[in-house]
Amino acid sequence: MKGSFAFFMKGKSISMKNDINWYQNAIFYEVYVRAYADSNGDGHGDLRGLIQKLDYIKDLGVDCIWMLPIYESPLRDDGYDISDYYTIANVFGSVDDLRELLKKTHDRGMRLIMDLVVNHTSDQHPWFQAARKDRKSPYRDYYVWSDDDRKYQGTRIIFIDTEKSNWTWDGQAGQFYWHRFYASQPDLNFDNPKVQQEILDVMDYWLAMGVDGFRVDAVPYLFEREGTNCENLPETHQYLKRMRQFVDHKYPDCIMLCEANQWPEDVRPYFGEGDEFHMGFHFPLMPRIYMALGKEDVTPLFQILKRTPDIPNNCQWCIFLRNHDELTLEMVTEEERQWMWDFYAAQPGTRLNLGIRRRLAPLLGNNQKKIELAYSLLFTLPGSPIIYYGDEIGMGDNIELFDRNGLRTPMQWDNSPNAGFSHADSSRLYAPVINDERFKPQQVNVEDQRQTPESLYNHIKHMLAVRKQHAGLGSSLLEWIDTGNNAIAAYWRIRGEERFLICNNLSETTLTFKIEMPTALTKGMDLLSGKDIDMPSSHELCLNLASHAFVWLKIN
Ligand code: GLC
Repeated sequence: MKGSFAFFMKGKSISMKNDINWYQNAIFYEVYVRAYADSNGDGHGDLRGLIQKLDYIKDLGVDCIWMLPIYESPLRDDGYDISDYYTIANVFGSVDDLRELLKKTHDRGMRLIMDLVVNHTSDQHPWFQAARKDRKSPYRDYYVWSDDDRKYQGTRIIFIDTEKSNWTWDGQAGQFYWHRFYASQPDLNFDNPKVQQEILDVMDYWLAMGVDGFRVDAVPYLFEREGTNCENLPETHQYLKRMRQFVDHKYPDCIMLCEANQWPEDVRPYFGEGDEFHMGFHFPLMPRIYMALGKEDVTPLFQILKRTPDIPNNCQWCIFLRNHDELTLEMVTEEERQWMWDFYAAQPGTRLNLGIRRRLAPLLGNNQKKIELAYSLLFTLPGSPIIYYGDEIGMGDNIELFDRNGLRTPMQWDNSPNAGFSHADSSRLYAPVINDERFKPQQVNVEDQRQTPESLYNHIKHMLAVRKQHAGLGSSLLEWIDTGNNAIAAYWRIRGEERFLICNNLSETTLTFKIEMPTALTKGMDLLSGKDIDMPSSHELCLNLASHAFVWLKIN
């Protein structure tokens, strides 16, 4: 091959294609397309709007965008209710727009993964429509039916604030159908080989277009078996391995990211022997970052990471502070949940299901030092970090809106009334812009923060740049350090000859503490300030950290 063809295959450069382990040290950014940027003034963000913002995302330091579902959908669960896997909902744009988005993302050396919702469809999907109408339809067996609602009693309800049962009666079908989420999202029947094949076909379609992989939604629930809790079943793992084989065979540089909100030992099998998911979210770590900050105590972090099994070499955790859902408290004890609610959700209306529907900045009292400290943990603990859109500028939330909608308000680009998100009349926006005094666009917006050297945005951008220069901050061994003070989260990250010493002061007060050095080390560098530091001639390094301050040192 000659000329530019040699360098671009499906829009990806050869170096991108060859870098099959790219996800192990990548910075991810979660975009809710509807909220991001509205290019045609209809009040809804769209793919062309996202294209206009790619330079912003690149400049922040992002390697891979994860886009929430954009498929045809009645949008009863923000696109997690798909009515056609092969088309893009009009509000978001067209397949050509997606092609252009992919090309422009790849041109900038970034990647893009989409959401793949496999557990269920919308009740408006033609499969379900055909299934409910006619018992003899070949689509009847695409879903899970029963004459009564007593099967699978051992299964928990996930959306406890809106759903009373996992079974809903369908008058037209004359049977109950099974659903783990809203009643408008009937579960697919994975015991049916046709369903299994349908999903592989869907994957093939989008991967062939150049998508770099999928965040696979709600994977623990694919199969149902009597006498179990219908989660993490062996049949599920078997099918997921089949998905992976398919990806490896046809699209070896593409990834599968697992959404399994489970304890570490139950997530571990989703990595298989490196033959199931490339990545998995670390759900139990997330609330413990907030516990550590609230209790000024590293113990919750230490304990959960100690409880986290090793994963195969070709895998990686995906770690996060917030996402588009409530801050889930499913993976904590009853006592811990109560503590989190008392501490972070005392305000009426902030609890949802088993969680808290607040964004990062309001959770941390809009305290910039504390927010940066949370990011310091996120960028130096094991895993590839993911940033939820808007949290890089400390956006607020709106608990007046239904369910999780208050966490999904328009991105605040500037201080104009629609926050630079849309030219539509504000009454036509899909959701109102935040108008809380502390978080309205006049207070919190990208444009102002980019111009202010000490802004949250600039600090995060700087931390990301440093992290990207030192791969060892992301994938390396973690070794905890006991400083004798639990308010200090201190650890080594060790990769070959490289050693990084990370210290975070979780408390409200200035603390002085000592770190024992493995050998007499000579030189160190403070990575965030770029300054060399003198190491002591003894084996002890004495450090002093102001309230909520942190240091990342590279030790030679
Ligand atoms: C996942 C998504 C959530 C959605 C649910 C049902 O948990 O993160 O937003 O409602 O799946 O698809």
